Amino acid sequence: MLKANVPTALAQTQAIVANSSSMANKKAPTAACLFSGMGGFATGLAHAGFEISWASDNDESACAAFRHRFPRVRLVEKDVRQLSVRVNSLGGVDVLAAGFPCQSFSQAGNRHGFEDSRGSLFFEIPRLIEEFQAEERPSLIVLENVPHLLYGANGEWFDRVRRAMRRIGYWFREEACWVVNVKDATELPQDRERLFMVAALRERFSRNPFCPPSLGNGSGPERRPLADFVDRTQRGREDAYLSPDNRYYKMISRAICTGESDANVYQLRRSYVREKKQGLCPTLTANMGIGGHNVPFVRDHWGIRRLSVSEVARLQGFDDTGGLFPKIPETEQYRLLGNSVCVGLAHLVGKICARILDDRGISSK
Ligand SMILES: C[S@@+](CC[C@H](N)C(=O)[O-])C[C@H]1O[C@@H](n2cnc3c(N)ncnc32)[C@H](O)[C@@H]1O
Repeated sequence: MLKANVPTALAQTQAIVANSSSMANKKAPTAACLFSGMGGFATGLAHAGFEISWASDNDESACAAFRHRFPRVRLVEKDVRQLSVRVNSLGGVDVLAAGFPCQSFSQAGNRHGFEDSRGSLFFEIPRLIEEFQAEERPSLIVLENVPHLLYGANGEWFDRVRRAMRRIGYWFREEACWVVNVKDATELPQDRERLFMVAALRERFSRNPFCPPSLGNGSGPERRPLADFVDRTQRGREDAYLSPDNRYYKMISRAICTGESDANVYQLRRSYVREKKQGLCPTLTANMGIGGHNVPFVRDHWGIRRLSVSEVARLQGFDDTGGLFPKIPETEQYRLLGNSVCVGLAHLVGKICARILDDRGISSK
């Protein structure tokens, strides 16, 4: 049997909130999430002891999933370009997290950067920050995206982010950015590289206090085996199995037969099948929501099947399965999970931010 199993998303969230607010009887630091998706950042930050004050996203399914997870958190379902601190009464928080859309910065995407309408949504973050009164501005801003944002367009993309954050009064430097892989920093066996960029308000800090943790020489957490997350011992749902008549069946089956191990996870690429070795799951992506063949496969005793929503959720660090989603189509559940920040990483970054705020005696608003 798989290890991770917690009753419902609501119960999990309530437990997180109860835990965090009872911590040393101190007032919990506060956080808000822009581009909040299904709540990956919010979950990780709540685990790290933050009280989530508000969140915003414009995607209907993402908002439904977020509300299901955080029924007591104020969620503004709106295009970020129409969001306003004043009109939408957004309160000041200690930390603002913003995992802005990454397609235009990704090596696998169109690489149009800020020329792409999704890439340019980044500029809504400094616009909103400037709308806050000086004393209401977040002490720390955590931006999250793909690592290629650091290097793309010969560094021009990163430079624009740096200039935008400095212009609105934040310390921002490359040394306070963290390129990190889920498989190295958490116990989750997923190969997923991300970039976290932390900015600190100049008025409250004499320098940027964020230091990425060192994970060298095996100092990271011990990775759990894939079998803790992907259950090949129980029969999966009937419709998860590929029919032998399916046009991809032979291709995937051949790759599994000639692969290093049939206990590995296999992924259909455009014209071939890739075996993910070393007991890892490949990066889970939003295009899993386009249809069955974009979800990674495993072979078990009963055939070749795609990973279930629960398995994908666990591999992204969500420790709940049954009650994770409201009634939305399964394709949407896969898409939202692929779009989510890994909860384990958000938790780690959240813990560092909480410590920084605590060390400086910066209390919540
Ligand atoms: C990479 S996902 C963010 C995941 C999220 N940070 C988390 O905690 O899991 C990007 C999010 O941006 C949202 N988004 C895209 N365009 C938007 C817009 N114009 N206004 C508001 N949100 C938008 C998407 O719906 C998606 O949920």
